[in-house]
Amino acid sequence: MATILAIETSCDETAAAVVSHRQVLSSVVASQIDLHSRYGGVVPELASREHLLTIGDTVKEALLTSQLGWTDIDAVATTCAPGLVGALLVGMSVGKALSMVHQKPFLGTHHLEGHIYAAYLEHMDLQPPFLCLLVSGGHTSLIRVDGCGQYSVLGKTRDDAAGEAFDKVARLLELGYPGGPIIDRLAQQGNPRAFRLPEGNISLPEGGYHPYDASFSGLKTAVLRLVERLKSEGVDPLPLADIAASFQDAVVRALTKRAVRSAQDQDLPAIVLGGGVAANSGLRRTLSETAAAHGICVNVPSLKLCTANAAMVACAASDHIAHGHRSSLDLGVYSRLPLERVSELY
Ligand code: KG4
Repeated sequence: MATILAIETSCDETAAAVVSHRQVLSSVVASQIDLHSRYGGVVPELASREHLLTIGDTVKEALLTSQLGWTDIDAVATTCAPGLVGALLVGMSVGKALSMVHQKPFLGTHHLEGHIYAAYLEHMDLQPPFLCLLVSGGHTSLIRVDGCGQYSVLGKTRDDAAGEAFDKVARLLELGYPGGPIIDRLAQQGNPRAFRLPEGNISLPEGGYHPYDASFSGLKTAVLRLVERLKSEGVDPLPLADIAASFQDAVVRALTKRAVRSAQDQDLPAIVLGGGVAANSGLRRTLSETAAAHGICVNVPSLKLCTANAAMVACAASDHIAHGHRSSLDLGVYSRLPLERVSELY
């Protein structure tokens, strides 16, 4: 397998990594959370400018830490979709320039494919087919993985991503940004049965519910209505830990139920958890326990591989290189690109 230098700038983390034979030789992540937290969310223009300032040092540090030189690098890979266009452009411009200067093949990589491949970095014996529950700030999908570039999206959110729901609920409870880790911590002191909140079922015209799709926007509104009701009843202070625990429990139940059901229906032996919300302690525990009860194994990533990083991008790219794939230097960036269309990048 090839040795890849990869760059990731799709949102608010500037990241570079060197990965060889699925071994992470270096992985550097410069987070912009402090910059964006004062605005309560990612400001796209600020993200692009910050990537510009940090990308040079981040790539240099990744190469230095790997103790390799450019002669050891087989290819350069960069996330080209999906993400913030201005942010993606910074990484893509640097990646293409490095590939031209050092005369290395170039690969544009799909960010969500990277999240799937993070699992291979820690579970060397993992083999497709498996189910990936990908839950981040921008995406919530159940993906059947049959091999490199072979993905079928079985289910998804119809509106807000799970991470977006965590961030929005944290904002309405005035807890800070990013909301996921704050709610996760607070929920540990609360009662998840304190308030019954909806699991985001999607009704079907013929009756019943969609087995895999979910809605998290209604759940966020339910929390808003709950807060309004408690305030109108004069409840002060608000039982924030109980609200956080009840909200997190509803999200975890919704995700776990759909993931286990789709793995069972598709006869898949393993579920891989990926994306920023994979760091959630409730989801990690409940999904692992419920799946194990049904004889399904769960691969939970270490915390450093849950959020955006370039090691997962390098890992995906090395498999594409092994399949003879290369990208053109004319490749653009895409704010959205369905995972099923990943082959169009090569
Ligand atoms: O994958 P990621 O780093 O960025 C995207 O590509 O979106 O995910 C960030 C999301 C944010 O919405 C953040 O609130 C959420 O992941 N998150 C969590 C936790 N840690 C991060 N959500 C729930 N529990 C956590 N512990």
